[in-house]
Amino acid sequence: MSQCDPESTNLSTSTIIILAAGQGRRMKSDGPKAFEIVCGERIIDHQLRTICQTDIQQVIIVVSPQYRRDFSEIAKEYPQLVIKLAEQATPLGTGHAVQQALPLLSTQNAMVVLGDVPFIPVSVYENALLNLQTCHITTAIYENPDGLGRIIRDDKDKLLCIIEHKDCNSAQKTVREANTGIIAAKKDLLEKFLPKIQNNNQQQEYYLTDLISLFVNHEIEIQSNILTKSETWSVQGCNTIAELITVERQQQRARAESLIQSGVKIQDPNRFDCRGELICGKNVTIDINVIIEGQVIIGDHTTIGPSSILKNVTIGKNVNVKGFSHIESSRIEDHATIGPFAYCREQTHIHESAEIGCFVETKNTTLGKKSKAKHLSYIGNLTIGEQTNIGAGVIHCNYDGHTKHQSIIQNHVFLGANSSIIGPIHIENHATVAAGTTITKNVAKKSLAIARAKQVQINNWRPKQSRTQTTVEAPVTIEE
Ligand code: UD1
Ligand code: CA
Repeated sequence: MSQCDPESTNLSTSTIIILAAGQGRRMKSDGPKAFEIVCGERIIDHQLRTICQTDIQQVIIVVSPQYRRDFSEIAKEYPQLVIKLAEQATPLGTGHAVQQALPLLSTQNAMVVLGDVPFIPVSVYENALLNLQTCHITTAIYENPDGLGRIIRDDKDKLLCIIEHKDCNSAQKTVREANTGIIAAKKDLLEKFLPKIQNNNQQQEYYLTDLISLFVNHEIEIQSNILTKSETWSVQGCNTIAELITVERQQQRARAESLIQSGVKIQDPNRFDCRGELICGKNVTIDINVIIEGQVIIGDHTTIGPSSILKNVTIGKNVNVKGFSHIESSRIEDHATIGPFAYCREQTHIHESAEIGCFVETKNTTLGKKSKAKHLSYIGNLTIGEQTNIGAGVIHCNYDGHTKHQSIIQNHVFLGANSSIIGPIHIENHATVAAGTTITKNVAKKSLAIARAKQVQINNWRPKQSRTQTTVEAPVTIEE
């Protein structure tokens, strides 16, 4: 101890015990509360990712046997942690759950985290574990502590016990300091005192919180930390859908505010949803109702229009994404313009100063520098060169029912409106495709390809019902 930093020693010699074996009846959904999605990810993922940001490596998750396989799949996603699973066949209470973890506990310090609390900050882990002497509890003062375990102290403020809401008398119910559920303790104390917990309470459960009175009775000193008002929401548990939604809104607001602090102009922090990770350059503007999913990077001076969805996208500098655009698994280079109402699907690469306009869908496609597809097109499986114009209504017919075909359209090509390209096709530099053409053969450079049925004119034509005599004349081909 003397030579190494005592703080990091305590974190790296600690185990987080996550309790996730309850039935979650109040959530009224199938499966553990730890699998509920909040801000685009499962609660358990939020917890494990935060733990990865600390020096803690050891985690034990207490699970119901029926979900063991799901949890072991999740554990594989965190190779930097050593995650063990303890089973609790019947959820007899949080104290009983921690007891199931003890045989797997190999460090001197343990911190219990409830599996329905997604956003416990790193500081709370550190406060509980750094310099842990015996037992440390994290509490908070609530406006309305209904449902929570109350912190009972004597008139000298000494902690006496935690009484669960259902077991409180009316005086105890007026106490506003409540248990956040985060309790850290030395392994030897847990081993000694957990078996002493009884279940003679309203819910007939073995409450972890009963440890506190046992420790007090044995004159074991308890450290405690009362969270500040602004920290309190971050340890809120999600027992119900309503609580899940409230916690999500608070987290989204916090994310928006932190982006604003870093210089991003979020037009309305109440109408912004980041369900992943967003990295922004300077002078980025994000209009209302934008949804960010997965990993999104936005370069300097780029504007994202209202109601756009960006998922796993890298966007360059000075890009204008106009409203209602949906871009996923794509890359947009500097000075490009996208939308409004554009749909860029996976493997779209829009190069510098290129434009994708209204009702244009792209997939597995490269649009070269300064090329444009501005109206009503499907451009999938295409490699498009530079300064090429894709007219309104152009469709790349890439799918023949069995295979997706790839076509190439080179530089300075002009595709007239409403032309169909039946892939695989190669259209060479400076070629022109006349409007309304169906292209079935390759087009040579600098050539014009035109394939249209000749227009005919039938004079004196009437709908069948209104014909009195045979006045319809023979069709006349219009000369060009
Ligand atoms: C718990 C605390 C309460 C605290 C509140 C804070 C206890 C007895 N109560 O109450 O003092 O104020 O959290 O949010 O600790 N679980 C198991 N096995 C079980 C029972 C529960 O794994 O046998 C898991 C649940 O899946 C859940 C977590 O433990 O993830 C907490 O259980 P929950 O029923 O939500 O406790 P609360 O009533 O919220
Ligand atoms: Ca809870």
